[in-house]
Amino acid sequence: MKFFIDTASLKEIQEAQDLGVLDGVTTNPSLMAKEGIAGKNNVMRHYKAICEIVDGDVSAEVISTTFEEMIAEGEELAEIDEQIVVKVPMIKDGIKAIKYFSERGIKTNCTLVFSAGQALLAAKAGATYVSPFVGRLDDISTDGMNLIEDIRLIYDNYGFETQILAASVRHPMHILQCAKIGADVMTGPLSAIMALLNHPLTDSGLAKFLADYAKVNAK
Ligand code: E4P
Repeated sequence: MKFFIDTASLKEIQEAQDLGVLDGVTTNPSLMAKEGIAGKNNVMRHYKAICEIVDGDVSAEVISTTFEEMIAEGEELAEIDEQIVVKVPMIKDGIKAIKYFSERGIKTNCTLVFSAGQALLAAKAGATYVSPFVGRLDDISTDGMNLIEDIRLIYDNYGFETQILAASVRHPMHILQCAKIGADVMTGPLSAIMALLNHPLTDSGLAKFLADYAKVNAK
């Protein structure tokens, strides 16, 4: 299972990279805005800076919503670095753009996916990744994990190579549930990844080991 971090913060990306478990990064316009990244040149430079930190795919989302504009914007994004994955919204022109990019060897991430039917379309168009948003489904009292299960079943039925990138992951239980179902990738905040470290028995066990060592090794 690949771990992506869902942020545009270079500090958090570096921290996850230093932990040694990071496989990629996803961003979106909201995350870029949160870091105050504005203006085309700054945006392009920021994506390049992310690519220099992480060894893996970096999703950069198009702002355009028409086929022609998405193609132009996506091709420009893809030129920044070979790690760039063009993130395209699940709309009619987005599906056409994903088909266009996939025929030209440009990696894509179909975002804002909330149903199995949308995921099936993304796979048919040749998306590299499909991003079902589990947290946002949970937010409206709909079990996001059911969607991951449905997509896993459909993709396995037909051997689609599109990778299921469970997005909008919010906490460590989401990560574990995705791992049990067999999502190929999860993307979430650094806090969700770091929370996997925690167990009180680890803390108390380590404290006792160190205390016992200190008893017989006192100066
Ligand atoms: C996915 O690629 C999105 O950037 C992201 O996971 C959305 O997460 P949120 O619902 O926590 O904003």
